[in-house]
Amino acid sequence: MKIEIKNLLDFKRKKKSQEKISMVTCYDFAMAQLVNQSDIDCILVGDSVAQVMHGHSTTLQATTAMMALHTQAVSRGAPEKFIVTDMPFLATRKGLKNTMDQAEKLMRAGAHALKIEGVDGHIQFIKHLVESGIPIMGHLGLTPQSIHQLGGPKIQGKNHEAAHKILQDALALQHAGCFSVVLECIPHLLTQEISKQLEIPTIGIGAGPKADGQVLVLQDLLGLNAKFNPKFLKKYLNGADLITNALNCYASEVVEQKFPTEKHSYESN
Ligand code: KIV
Repeated sequence: MKIEIKNLLDFKRKKKSQEKISMVTCYDFAMAQLVNQSDIDCILVGDSVAQVMHGHSTTLQATTAMMALHTQAVSRGAPEKFIVTDMPFLATRKGLKNTMDQAEKLMRAGAHALKIEGVDGHIQFIKHLVESGIPIMGHLGLTPQSIHQLGGPKIQGKNHEAAHKILQDALALQHAGCFSVVLECIPHLLTQEISKQLEIPTIGIGAGPKADGQVLVLQDLLGLNAKFNPKFLKKYLNGADLITNALNCYASEVVEQKFPTEKHSYESN
């Protein structure tokens, strides 16, 4: 029988029984209701919300207030799903007190766990959060909050040295108490090696089939953005065309006075 993810212990159980974990991003109540009634294991309220829902060009514009608002909406729509929320840009870089304050706001907003990008300079904060009862998911490889430092959305860990650093960072995150780690845009053989060495599950995006689970941006897998076609993405719906066609159909029926009809109208007493 499928192991349902109800709490963070189920992540390890999934890995032990070699059951892959499915995760999608979600940012709003309406979509959360749909995810809630699906077989998806868990939800990420990703800081990609800044791009997908607010139209910014990077994730750097996501703030703790923005993440908290979307987490509240998702937790109302998907009360049965395990929800991980991203700590936004710089939230872990301004000292322990500030990190704890941001984390508190996101947990009180309805997150069951938080995701933090990178390791260097804030591993002690990750440890403190875990010791404070906050489950933490790591995020390595292409870390979009460092997009300017990385020189763009490039595949990470391609040479031996870079691959070794990602593996060491993954082990450090596990040692610090993380319950899982996202691996974004790294070579698939590196994902395989990291997943083999870690006891905690890896969740891949653009990281090949050997991760212990996969995460995709919901709007991407639904094909809502016709212009976004990276190699790693598979679209499970042609959402852009379907929605545009429905909108055009509605618009022409309004113009042609085919909608509304009597069927859609109210009678007086
Ligand atoms: O914010 C996000 O969507 C993410 C995923 C790409 C893992 O962090």
